[in-house]
This record gives sequence, structure tokens and C-alpha cells, in this order.
Amino acid sequence: MANMLHLSSIRAAFFVGTIMYALAFSFVTVSGRPATFVQDFRVTWSDSHIRQIDGGTAIQLTLDRNSGCGFASKNQYLFGSFSVKIKLIPGDSAGTVTAFYMNSDTNYVRDELDFEFLGNRSGQPTTVQTNVYVNGKGSREQRINLWFDPSIGFHTYTIRWTRENIIYYVDDVPIRVFKNNEAIGIPYPKRQPMGIFSTLWDADDWATRGGLEKIDWSKAPFYTYYKDFDVDGCVVPGPAACAFNPNNWWEGPNYRGLTPLEARKYHWVRANHMIYDYCTDRSRFPVAPPECLAGI
Ligand SMILES: *[C@@H]1O[C@H](CO)[C@@H](O)[C@H](O)[C@H]1NC(C)=O
Repeated sequence: MANMLHLSSIRAAFFVGTIMYALAFSFVTVSGRPATFVQDFRVTWSDSHIRQIDGGTAIQLTLDRNSGCGFASKNQYLFGSFSVKIKLIPGDSAGTVTAFYMNSDTNYVRDELDFEFLGNRSGQPTTVQTNVYVNGKGSREQRINLWFDPSIGFHTYTIRWTRENIIYYVDDVPIRVFKNNEAIGIPYPKRQPMGIFSTLWDADDWATRGGLEKIDWSKAPFYTYYKDFDVDGCVVPGPAACAFNPNNWWEGPNYRGLTPLEARKYHWVRANHMIYDYCTDRSRFPVAPPECLAGI
């Protein structure tokens, strides 16, 4: 039943609820509502390093010598689409990591879907590392170098998580697909709800050129900006319908995989911008992990 959907939309989060916005997005079928950071998120690490701006509709994260910081959603979700616009640290950001991820917060059986933005020296490309943890097991890193400077403007980063696949998008380009291949014995995250998390921290022991490039603290403080959180997911605890309801948009036939146009973009990014794939790293995996052979 449609009224069992329990959709949570914070589509308008971090965005002033102006008439213009309502008009522009009035075609959205779920209940979009204007919201501020404090309505949907909480600070998990260092209050003093997270600042609300633009009337609470956007936030600034700070990393300095004293601390990084982090925040998380108040809700947990089971499936949905989770996206945010981020403007990363300009100039020399080597050694810093900004992360945007989903996490079940369940220790040794945790499920986790990661976007990690690894800073770099001025003029060098920012790397996006993605990973997939299922039942506490990760080690599924892939890396691409971005084809634009992510500090000049906001770009949209999306994790779309359905029963059938997980797709990571940079703007409208799918950079990674993790398919549900349970039919051939590959674990897939679908039993545990996940929250949305983000952190900005000092990772110069590994992030940039494997830890060779250190943070230049004379350039601190470092700032990352977030706005327009857009979440269409099934809030948990919710109705049993969260587990399966054909009325949830993500169960629809259009979301079973990539569209032909998306598939072209996906192959383009992997052919031209991928710099690391655990699937082809024979020093770590003499035999490719089974999901690597299962295709998209
Ligand atoms: C940083 O830039 C170097 C040189 O262009 C590149 O090899 C590397 O992939 C970039 N990213 C990181 C995280 O080191």
C-alpha cells in the first residue's frame, strides 16, 4: 500500500525552502520539505569544527592541527538514494580525506558503502576511493582520479542502494556498480539498515601517494562544504514494507541496472580515469574475488 511507504525525504535539506524551490521540485512525488542540518543530522565529532552556514542549509567542515570533525544522519535507512553536493578543499589538500558513506554501525558484521576523497598537492588530481563492506568484510577498494577540479564548485555524489545493486555516482556518471550476486554465493548488504555519515580528517599516513605526501599545516585550516542533502530512503525502524514493497521507486524496473547511456559513461570513466581496482590486483588477490567475475 502506498501509504505504507514511509519515505523520508530530506530532498530539500540544506536548502532554503523558497517558493522557487517548491516550484522547481514540485514534480517530486515524495514529500519534499525544507530542512536544516540540525533537523536531520547530528555532530559525531568536534562540534567546534562544524559550522552551519546560509541559515543552517549548508555546512562547513574544518580540519586543523587540533581536530577534524564528523556528522551522521539521525535516521537509518534500508535502501534508497543518498546524495549530497560537496565542494572539496582547494589548493594543497594532500594528506586530507573527506568521506561520505553509509554504515550499519554494527562492529564486526558491519555493512558499509564508502566514498572517500583523497586530497592531493596543488594541481594534482583528487582521487575518489570507493569500498563495499558486507558482514564486516571490505578490501574491495577501487580508485578513480576526478576529471574536474572538485574544489571549484559543488558536485553531486550519490550512493544508490537497492535490492539489486549499489551504484556510486559522481554527478550523473556511475563510477562503480556492485551487483547483488547472492544467487552465486556472493554476500550482499540488504539485511542491516545503514545511516549516512561524513568526516573530514588527517590521513596523511596513507592517503596521498601512499602516505609519501604529508599535510602542509601552513595551509590549514582546511574546509569542505556540503549542501542539498537529498535522501529518498526507507526509514528504519519502519513498516515491514521497508523490506519489500513494489511501490518503492527503487524496486521499479528502471532501477534494476544502468541505462544504456549510464553504461556508456561507466565504461568511459573506467577506461580513462580508473587508477586502481582490487579486482585486478594480483599481489593482494592471486585469484580474483568472485564478484569481480560476475560483471555489472
Ligand atoms: C595525486 O597525484 C599523483 C600525481 O599526479 C597521482 O599519481 C595520485 O594518483 C594522486 N592521488 C593520490 C591520492 O595520491
